[in-house]
Amino acid sequence: MAALEPTPADSEAPLRSRAWFGDGGKNGFISRHHLRAMGRGGHNFDGRPVIGICNTFSELTPCNGHLQLIADAVKRGVLQAGGFPLEFPAMSLGEPFLRPTSMLYRNLAAMEIEEQIRANPLDAVVLLTGCDKTTPAALMGAASAGVPAIVFTGGPMLNGRFHGRNVGSGTDIWRMTEELRAGTITQEEFTEFESSLNRSAGHCMTMGTASTMACLTEALGMMLPGGSGLPAVDARRGTLAEETGARAVALAGGDLTPGRIMTRAAFENAIRINAAIGGSTNAVVHLLAIAGRLGVPLALDDFDRLGAELPLLIDLMPSGRFLMEEFAYAGGLPALVNDLRDRLHHDTVTVTGRGLVDNCEGAQVHDREVIRPMDRPVQPAGTGTAVLRGNLAPNGAVIKQSAAGPKLLSHTGPALVFDSLEDYLAVAEDPDLDVTADTVLIVRNTGPKGYPGMPEVGNLQLPKKLLDAGVRDMVRISDARMSGTAFGTCVLHVAPEAAVGGPLALVRTGDDVRLDVPARRLDVLVEDAELERRRSEWQPPAPPADRGWTYLYTQHVTQADTGVDLDFLVGASDSAPPRQAF
Ligand code: FES
Ligand code: MG
Repeated sequence: MAALEPTPADSEAPLRSRAWFGDGGKNGFISRHHLRAMGRGGHNFDGRPVIGICNTFSELTPCNGHLQLIADAVKRGVLQAGGFPLEFPAMSLGEPFLRPTSMLYRNLAAMEIEEQIRANPLDAVVLLTGCDKTTPAALMGAASAGVPAIVFTGGPMLNGRFHGRNVGSGTDIWRMTEELRAGTITQEEFTEFESSLNRSAGHCMTMGTASTMACLTEALGMMLPGGSGLPAVDARRGTLAEETGARAVALAGGDLTPGRIMTRAAFENAIRINAAIGGSTNAVVHLLAIAGRLGVPLALDDFDRLGAELPLLIDLMPSGRFLMEEFAYAGGLPALVNDLRDRLHHDTVTVTGRGLVDNCEGAQVHDREVIRPMDRPVQPAGTGTAVLRGNLAPNGAVIKQSAAGPKLLSHTGPALVFDSLEDYLAVAEDPDLDVTADTVLIVRNTGPKGYPGMPEVGNLQLPKKLLDAGVRDMVRISDARMSGTAFGTCVLHVAPEAAVGGPLALVRTGDDVRLDVPARRLDVLVEDAELERRRSEWQPPAPPADRGWTYLYTQHVTQADTGVDLDFLVGASDSAPPRQAF
């Protein structure tokens, strides 16, 4: 790893924690003596940096279930570097359990993390994350809090192994589920597969959302080099956690804040790298939301334009063959960054105090099948995340071309429209469903307000009738997201969503819909006057809740093209210690 540079304000900067612990009277007494009750003696209050370790460990988030061990390693690093570590829990968001969708809670977790950082005597914070939403939530919260921060993602699981071959999180579940429905595998094989997939601690090991956000956190400069790839159970991760704790001590009190690191140039690097790794479409909403916290101008079209500069170079599922283990052993993100050094901005700064490209100088690629050279890409440039517009998505929609069926990228077919996911699922198995391989399947009211929470249902399962006929892909359109591990010709994130009156609400079964990805268009072939007539008849759906978080969320959530944040959370607040109640 590259040498760590001192930050400009290393020694002389005032520490926030002194506003709590540096007071000789009653208030300092109160702050200190309760920590003494936990055995933390006077030397902890001698002016050394206080490092928060924000832990998203939870047994309800199995991907983050090992973060207690990681926190211990981070603490060792903090102590070795002369800091005072204090671990605290943060709301943890696990993909497998949270209903209606973990995305409903990303902003709540971000808000909690922001407020905890600001309200407490912390000079820097280490953010321990892993499962999909925990990483963007932490970045959003840290961005708004403005205190120096460094992320440590928990690392991917070891490869799944089933019947002598590698199997990947999500990706192979979607495949095997369709095979089970089609009757080509047995229930026994399906159960055996279930116990073969997740073999260790860590997050999903395909290039799904968790791996994508880990790579992009490193690309943005918020994590030490190499932090995204190593398997969760690799012993080197403990070393990296120690180094992360030590680095947090160096960052404490300095001006190397998330806002200085995550600049427009850093986001442009992250978007390019997202294209090269075949990253999740969820990165679009997460990066837009993080940028929104920092006032960095970033738009949906940046993902298409900047992403199109690079081919898909990492041969990982769901777009390719391998898994995160192979990526890490091939050199991981540092090797990829070094390969792309001529295509990336050099004028960025990361948590190391050096630029991303400088951090990765000399990092070698050890397997050219996994990390491809520019002249032998997995897929050519311009085949990543495309942004579509048209009368069906005036504010944009996205499609991950590398995960789609090439033949369907230009397709016109009759719509089959459902007002809810449940309405579709109720007939998905019907052998008499009026559907062909040319049908364009539309499920609406699955967006940020409509579902609510914009769940990962956009990779709609195929109608059984088509599966039985051997069809494995069709055009699907929704205002939902899809799992980063998923594949198929799925148009996602349609904005504005149907529930706020977007044109998706006006399509009817039988209308012809035209998808033209090369032209970046998505249109329903219906006259404007007819669409306006339908609009005059449209009634908004009933709000999903009249109290609690869901009420607050649906009152304030923004659309997919601006990051699905809450409107009042956009931007940042001061990191100064808040006023004290005497
Ligand atoms: Fe946690 Fe996939 S379920 S990363
Ligand atoms: Mg997911």
